[in-house]
Amino acid sequence: MKIGIGNDHSGFEMKQEIIRFLQEMGHEVIDHGTYDTERCDYPIYGEKVGRAVASGEVDRGILICGTGLGISLAANKVRGVRAVVCSEPCTARLSRQHNDANVLAFGARIVGIEMAKMIVQTWLDAEFEGGRHKRRVDMIMDIQNR
Ligand code: RB5
Repeated sequence: MKIGIGNDHSGFEMKQEIIRFLQEMGHEVIDHGTYDTERCDYPIYGEKVGRAVASGEVDRGILICGTGLGISLAANKVRGVRAVVCSEPCTARLSRQHNDANVLAFGARIVGIEMAKMIVQTWLDAEFEGGRHKRRVDMIMDIQNR
């Protein structure tokens, strides 16, 4: 899978480990920055990854900031993005199965690296179930058109 990844200063170190983890699993990773720990503004990177997902440049997006919250809010402003914040694997799995989430966010100040890897792996492995969930996801996306 081709995965776009982005972060602010607080997510930089965790991102480095997550990139290695993704590459070890055989994924192609496009790093949208930021590229160091210098203080920066998370909306920039949420938007970049959101646009990469929405345009089809990448299959999925992963975002890391302090909490995962601000960067996911920014990504969700891009039409076509369904970004979710997950702090454990159960919601990560359900966000794929029921919500067809195409961007995953988490907080480097909230979860440890082993939990983050488990969340990422679970999220990437889970498939959207469609059926009754598709109608609801379509309803969410329709909000953008009204
Ligand atoms: C940056 O200090 C912090 O506010 C940011 O990483 C994130 O947690 C915002 O939602």
